Amino acid sequence: MEKIKNIAAYKILDSRGEETIKVKIFSQNFFAEFSLPQGKSKGKYEACYLAPEKAIENIKKIIFPKIKNKEVNFQKIDQILLSLDKTPNKRKIGGNATLGVSIACAKLQAKVEKKPLFLFLERFFKKKKKKKSLFLLMNVINGGLHAKGGVAFQEYHLILKEKSLKESVFLGAKLYRKIGEKLETNIGDEGGYVPQMQDEKEPLFLLQKIKKRKNVSLGLDVAASSFFKNGKYFLKNKTLNFDELLNFYLAIEREFDLLYLEDPFEESGFEKFSLLRKKLKKTLICGDDLTVTNKERLKEAIKKSAIDLLLVKPNQIGTLSETIEAINFARENNIDVVVSHRSGETEDTFIADLAVACNAWGAKFGAPARGERTAKYNRLIEIENGYF
Ligand code: PGA
Ligand code: ZN
Repeated sequence: MEKIKNIAAYKILDSRGEETIKVKIFSQNFFAEFSLPQGKSKGKYEACYLAPEKAIENIKKIIFPKIKNKEVNFQKIDQILLSLDKTPNKRKIGGNATLGVSIACAKLQAKVEKKPLFLFLERFFKKKKKKKSLFLLMNVINGGLHAKGGVAFQEYHLILKEKSLKESVFLGAKLYRKIGEKLETNIGDEGGYVPQMQDEKEPLFLLQKIKKRKNVSLGLDVAASSFFKNGKYFLKNKTLNFDELLNFYLAIEREFDLLYLEDPFEESGFEKFSLLRKKLKKTLICGDDLTVTNKERLKEAIKKSAIDLLLVKPNQIGTLSETIEAINFARENNIDVVVSHRSGETEDTFIADLAVACNAWGAKFGAPARGERTAKYNRLIEIENGYF
């Protein structure tokens, strides 16, 4: 039986040039590694992210002694991690420390079983009735906390579902380059452009014009918590109250091919999500900061009928087992999932395998540019091509 023999954890850089951690786990015959991403517009209810030095110390001094010589089985390891930190947000040993160990261990187990990662992961998910291809949500215009000088809404997506994943990737990239030709701008944290725009609607006109083709839709991650203060929403050139912002979304839905709307209101606004959802005709509402990949928050969202889709970011919750649990629970309640990167990313491609394995509704990996984002799109192409 393969057992955990050694662990390494050290600091590396993420795509913003900030320090994050990499975890390597060794068994007798194999090793596997995971590099942790980090968010900037983080949800208040996410798992706690400790400073890299502290997380590394916890991995070496608290976690490793408890998992040494244990079987390479990520679910069993996750149980140990959860017993070491019973706080609701993993503030004791850190969600980054636990997730690093959890995913590195799952990758190691896949190697022990000699399976490509996505095939190894598949069996942990309840099967959907019909296997469908992924929508790719490519973030091509950045704003909010990810782009100084941009509009208040954080992400403007082109949403693609061509006949194959590679056709979606290449079409998205072509449109992304086309947008770039029209603009003279900086690039935001997720690789999208940061054009000078009057207001939050103007980027949508640009994308609507660029996409022309009917089978490309538009999406928005508003990340509303980042501009919500004292009951008001501070957009680029105006301040709106709840009713005004709600009507703004309804107008956008009428005017554009808006398929996807993430975090339209602040992270505690379950009822507000639900009111908007009742009025929207075709746009799907996704919860990110609202639900933080957390089953308990998801329960609340289900009770209030607040969302159609759950955004899945493993580092919001801190173990792979809990991530899988949230996905399966969402599915049991007719909520599909979008597997997502973070704004501070690494070259790690785990989330691409996760998106395929759980047969997600969508994958949100940022712009089709910059190595840390293209690594994930390229992994999707690799999986589709059958070269694992
Ligand atoms: P974050 O943003 O990684 O900075 O939290 C991504 C998102 O809000 O979807
Ligand atoms: Zn978001």
